[in-house]
Amino acid sequence: MGTSPVQFLGTYPPMPVVLVSTLYGDVKNVAPYAWHMPISIDPPLLGIAMRKSRDTYKNILEQGEFVVAVPGPDVLERMERTAESLPRDRSEFEHAGLTPSPSKLVGPFHVKECPVNMECRFEWEKEAGDHQVVVGRVVHVDVVSDGEGHVHDPIYHSMGTGAQYLRLGKAL
Ligand SMILES: Cc1cc2nc3c(=O)[nH]c(=O)nc-3n(C[C@H](O)[C@H](O)[C@H](O)COP(=O)(O)O)c2cc1C
Repeated sequence: MGTSPVQFLGTYPPMPVVLVSTLYGDVKNVAPYAWHMPISIDPPLLGIAMRKSRDTYKNILEQGEFVVAVPGPDVLERMERTAESLPRDRSEFEHAGLTPSPSKLVGPFHVKECPVNMECRFEWEKEAGDHQVVVGRVVHVDVVSDGEGHVHDPIYHSMGTGAQYLRLGKAL
């Protein structure tokens, strides 16, 4: 046993990908993040581990708000395009062909193609090695439902060998 990145991340279970939407002035930024988790129910808080170099990180710290959208397999290619490194004043929404739609309570936009959009306000951050854990309070959730329940078909990112992206399989 060891602790190399391959031994650590290569054996870590696949993580669901979210798109984080932020604002830099009137530039609509969006990028994928897989290192995230809910950390409190009441109040509803979620945390995302981001490198300090990310525009998303800088925008959240400066503007104070963000939207966490959950993409499905139909937007896999466009999700990947949002991960391409663009200058801060260029919108990945436009670059990737995703549609921004206005939020209810925060400035950053929803991703229209995503069935789940969570509007968040920045709460606090904590340094975590080579990442920062950025915590937001969820102030509004928008879910597209199929009438019977919520539609959830997230994209999972695998850091180990094999397929890089997966989707949920059969119930156990
Ligand atoms: C599937 C996927 C998951 C990612 N997860 C993270 C993550 O959790 N934290 C992080 O700092 N970067 C992550 N990245 C990298 C950023 O999305 C990428 O560097 C992006 O260009 C950042 O954009 P921004 O500078 O506009 O924020 C991920 C990339 C992909 C494709």
